Amino acid sequence: MLTVKYSIATFVWFGRNGEDLPMASFSSRLRFAHTTRLVRDLEPMLAFYCDVLGFQVTNRGMAGDAELAFVSQDPNEHHQIVFIQGIEATDPQFMFVDHLAFRTGSIDDLRAIQADLERAGVEGVAQVSHGNAWSLYFTDPEGNGLECFVDSPFHVAQPYLEGLDLSQSDDEIEAATRADIEGKPEFKPMEQWRAEFTAVLDGSEG
Ligand SMILES: [Fe+2]
Repeated sequence: MLTVKYSIATFVWFGRNGEDLPMASFSSRLRFAHTTRLVRDLEPMLAFYCDVLGFQVTNRGMAGDAELAFVSQDPNEHHQIVFIQGIEATDPQFMFVDHLAFRTGSIDDLRAIQADLERAGVEGVAQVSHGNAWSLYFTDPEGNGLECFVDSPFHVAQPYLEGLDLSQSDDEIEAATRADIEGKPEFKPMEQWRAEFTAVLDGSEG
């Protein structure tokens, strides 16, 4: 299984030209979950991925000047790919829209990863709530975007991006997220969203 632990280990062992860096603890196992892709022309890309390869658009919307389309064909994944039009690779928000994303098992895993990253000297780690997930965003030694996240118990229409404070308790984080998204479009328990999307996928296969 592909894990980001290897990447972090590589960074720790080789990333600083032999500097004596402390080893990361690797206290959390990561599962690859989704990727993002910058596109020049969104419509033909969606037509190909949906009509030819069988993906469904789960959400679509604007984030600033960028248009995002989330696609999946797995009820356990709100998005397997996010297509993004209208962002340049040099944009300072680049890591939010171009990254490999890894699922962790708990908010505590995110705290452990944050600590590992700090020990490895990684700067600029961003804590983000997507309503349906809580995420850490950071870059690898060559500036490629990475995300480590844990699912929240909720669904809300994407894109959605708010701050996250990992110094809060798990209960405080969940309560704050619920309060933030309760009135937002498509708010519902994640289990309900999964059941509904399973029905959509089953219907599309007939
Ligand atoms: Fe992501």
